Amino acid sequence: MAAIFTPAANGAMRGALLALGLLIAALVGFWWLWPSSLYMRKTGFVIEQPVPFSHQHHVAGLGIDCRFCHATVETSADAGMPPTYTCMTCHSQIWTNAKLLEPVRLSLAENRPIVWSRVTNLPDYVYFNHSIHIAKGVGCASCHGAVDQMPLTYKAVKLTMQFCLNCHRNPGPQLRPKSEIFNTSWRRDASTPSPQQLIAFYHVGGRNLTDCSICHR
Ligand code: HEC
Ligand code: HEC
Ligand code: HEC
Ligand code: HEC
Ligand code: HEC
Repeated sequence: MAAIFTPAANGAMRGALLALGLLIAALVGFWWLWPSSLYMRKTGFVIEQPVPFSHQHHVAGLGIDCRFCHATVETSADAGMPPTYTCMTCHSQIWTNAKLLEPVRLSLAENRPIVWSRVTNLPDYVYFNHSIHIAKGVGCASCHGAVDQMPLTYKAVKLTMQFCLNCHRNPGPQLRPKSEIFNTSWRRDASTPSPQQLIAFYHVGGRNLTDCSICHR
């Protein structure tokens, strides 16, 4: 009886099935991993701004405190962005003709705020509040990285739910003394109070920080 499928055709069929299997595996892998990639989480990429503002120059270089520009970070949910006159306290005296600062001067002249592009952004269904984190010993750098080293600002940390929960499950080891909240290069060392001492100092606890309703209300 003549074979309908030759051994060669069998081999070709196996090869085709293997290729199809690999293709499916690759597609599933892509579908699974792509949303959490740095690219899709917009992490590690400089965001285009109307003025190329440098935290490196202003914070690390000139030593300006975060709160000079993000004035409400200790008192409200939003950190707040600097109004144009905050820039002009200096730039009406220095670099007054710089082309780079043209949008800042225009903003003042036309009484129209500078529209900064968002770097960090959570979906609307997540509730977040700066003031409680600052009050309870969480440093800016825990969520924003070393902003004072950035010539142009980018999102340094993927702000996934997993990231928030990692700390909420056990905040102690990630809390810092009050004096170090704004210091982006601070690291825990032998002189740092223990996690238990910091938890007690800041009165953290008394509720389950991983409850869905803490962040989704
Ligand atoms: C526990 C994490 C966390 C800490 C600590 C933190 N931030 Fe934020 N920050 C965020 C998140 C999340 C957003 C985005 C909020 C949103 O989309 O509603 C944000 C947004 C911002 C913004 C944009 C404006 C705004 O309020 O939405 C600025 C500016 C900012 N943070 C500055 C700071 C400074 C300065 C500190 C330290 C004093 C700090 N942040 C500490 C998580 C944090
Ligand atoms: C406390 C004073 C001060 C404040 C406030 C200030 N600047 Fe500056 N800025 C400077 C100085 C000084 C330089 C020159 C830095 C250098 O070249 O080392 C500068 C430089 C710049 C430059 C040129 C590029 C660079 O980084 O060297 C830009 C753009 C700029 N500032 C934008 C702003 C904006 C926007 C604001 C408000 C959000 C602001 N500055 C607030 C003092 C200030
Ligand atoms: C002289 C003013 C000034 C100071 C001081 C300053 N910032 Fe900013 N910050 C800005 C401006 C202007 C922007 C918007 C442009 C940009 O993203 O670079 C900004 C943006 C940011 C953002 C991104 C906001 C967003 O859209 O999500 C973060 C986070 C931030 N700053 C954190 C800090 C931290 C932390 C410090 C202190 C270590 C600090 N800033 C000090 C002026 C300042
Ligand atoms: C490094 C540690 C740390 C990280 C990261 C962190 N948190 Fe928190 N969070 C805390 C601490 C500490 C508290 C205060 C707990 C207390 O009051 O006992 C808190 C409290 C909160 C509260 C309660 C606010 C209120 O007024 O009831 C919310 C909401 C919250 N965090 C949201 C977030 C979100 C969203 C993220 C991720 C973008 C995040 N947190 C990341 C440590 C952290
Ligand atoms: C500490 C804050 C926090 C707590 C507690 C929390 N979430 Fe979230 N959740 C987030 C953040 C932040 C995001 C947005 C992540 C992003 O941008 O992709 C999120 C996103 C989600 C999403 C959208 C899909 C996804 O995974 O991105 C779902 C569904 C969700 N959370 C369910 C829950 C449930 C159920 C609980 C309780 C078991 C819970 N969350 C507790 C912070 C929290």
